[in-house]
Amino acid sequence: MSSIAQEVGKRRTFAIISHPDAGKTTITEKVLLFGHALQRAGTVKGKKSGQHAKSDWMEMEKERGISVTTSVMQFPYADALVNLLDTPGHEDFSEDTYRTLTAVDSCLMVIDAAKGVEERTVKLMEVTRLRDTPILTFMNKLDRDVRDPVEVMDEVEEVLKIACAPITWPIGMGKNFKGVYHLLRDEVILYRSGQGDRIQEVRRIAGLDNPELNAVLGAWADDLREEVELVKGASHEFDLDAFLEGRLTPVFFGTALGNFGVDHMLDGLVEWAPTPKPRETESGIVSPFDETFSGFVFKIQANMDPNHRDRIAFMRIVSGRYEQGMKLRHVRLGKEVRVADALTFMAGDRERAEEAFAGDIIGLHNHGTIQLGDTFTGGPSFRFTGIPNFAPELFRRIRLKDPLKAKQLQKGLLQLSEEGAVQVFRPLRNNDLIVGAVGVLQFDVVVARLRSEYKVDALYEPINVATARWVTAEDPRVLEAFQSKCYDNVALDGSDNLAYIAPTMVNLQLAMERHPEVQFHKTKER
Ligand code: G4P
Repeated sequence: MSSIAQEVGKRRTFAIISHPDAGKTTITEKVLLFGHALQRAGTVKGKKSGQHAKSDWMEMEKERGISVTTSVMQFPYADALVNLLDTPGHEDFSEDTYRTLTAVDSCLMVIDAAKGVEERTVKLMEVTRLRDTPILTFMNKLDRDVRDPVEVMDEVEEVLKIACAPITWPIGMGKNFKGVYHLLRDEVILYRSGQGDRIQEVRRIAGLDNPELNAVLGAWADDLREEVELVKGASHEFDLDAFLEGRLTPVFFGTALGNFGVDHMLDGLVEWAPTPKPRETESGIVSPFDETFSGFVFKIQANMDPNHRDRIAFMRIVSGRYEQGMKLRHVRLGKEVRVADALTFMAGDRERAEEAFAGDIIGLHNHGTIQLGDTFTGGPSFRFTGIPNFAPELFRRIRLKDPLKAKQLQKGLLQLSEEGAVQVFRPLRNNDLIVGAVGVLQFDVVVARLRSEYKVDALYEPINVATARWVTAEDPRVLEAFQSKCYDNVALDGSDNLAYIAPTMVNLQLAMERHPEVQFHKTKER
């Protein structure tokens, strides 16, 4: 059996961040191809072939062309074992995306080089900043007429406030895309079109001064030499510390569709991206090398696969060794549980995990006892911090078509809120159920899932709620007094935490001024 240190040293856990259509799905597919998890590209999405990624679990999502699930794919690459966490691409699911980004150690930013920095990428970068996550960059679609690479790099530096260190440099673009020059390896790697569905045999030419370059590239060879000289002078050199601190990003150029350049990025990931990092708990830091097992739940997903009608809690392992059948402490419940059947996610297929280490994700079957943010350990009681909920911005009252199904509705909503699919608030003064969401699409998903999973027909009514805040106070008596004074505006959320439901922002402002001893929170730590 290998040591924990060796196993941890092999792991790289990352996610892809990008604006829709930049090529995240295509890159995911090529990455899996290099990880030998796919035999032939064209199977992950393949709208044309009619096949869909395993994560497309609902008809509605397929129709809308988005993937709501966060799936996890593990594959070997070089000497490493890579975990790729898929982030939902639609902006409606920013909360889910955020939580997924708390479970990775690095990110790949994919940019459509014809478009440059787009709005969703800006937002996602803000999220990665909160933890100074190291970022690799892939400039995609060089097989098209893209913008001047220097200009796009400048834009990244200016808009995203991160220094760019080109690792490869493109030779031509569009119909004239010839390949890239690898600045660190001092070699030219030539591109051939029409090979996107496989791992290609590529031709490499060592050394920028190699006369062979002139024979192959003609006039492009001297242009390249000049350009590389300029680029070297004007851009940042790669600096490992700056990368690890999130201040500098290595930049790779290529085409995901043509499967060119993705392996250069993977080489960089394996060489430079951090191995699983330590994590904070309420009572100190846990090292990935600790012998004692620990992990936290960052995602709960229902019915990933129509053949398995269960809910899966995704746990990121922080330390120790998971072994099949081991006993874990469910810290919030203060209970020991035996985990006989955790799942690993070998490139989308759910397999039984026999062993897993820090950086890995395992899936626990959840029968309603696991919540987002829960900590599991091999014995001691401590809790990981930093898995938040965000105060919703949109609210609706949910109503049953058949009043006899009230219990079912409540159960369904509470379970969906545990998953983080939606938030639910129950006012103290009446029996309303208020659904709160960060994005409007969540409302449709909830009604569709209530129908298909809980056999409940529900509909929404508008409600006069502008915002919500979780409320706490040091002294429980203060909170009690607040509760009775503001009875009409106080509600319990899905986990029985007290929240203030405000009809207007002005109302919220006044409540805050009148009750300075009460804290109003925009986010709730799980
Ligand atoms: P996303 O997951 O980030 O939303 O992007 P996705 O990979 O689905 O790519 C969006 C579109 O861009 C797709 O075309 C895809 O084929 C195309 N694309 C991705 N990488 C490249 C590239 O390197 N070069 C070129 N020319 N195109 C690229 P589509 O027509 O919208 O979808 P499809 O019908 O091909 O599935």
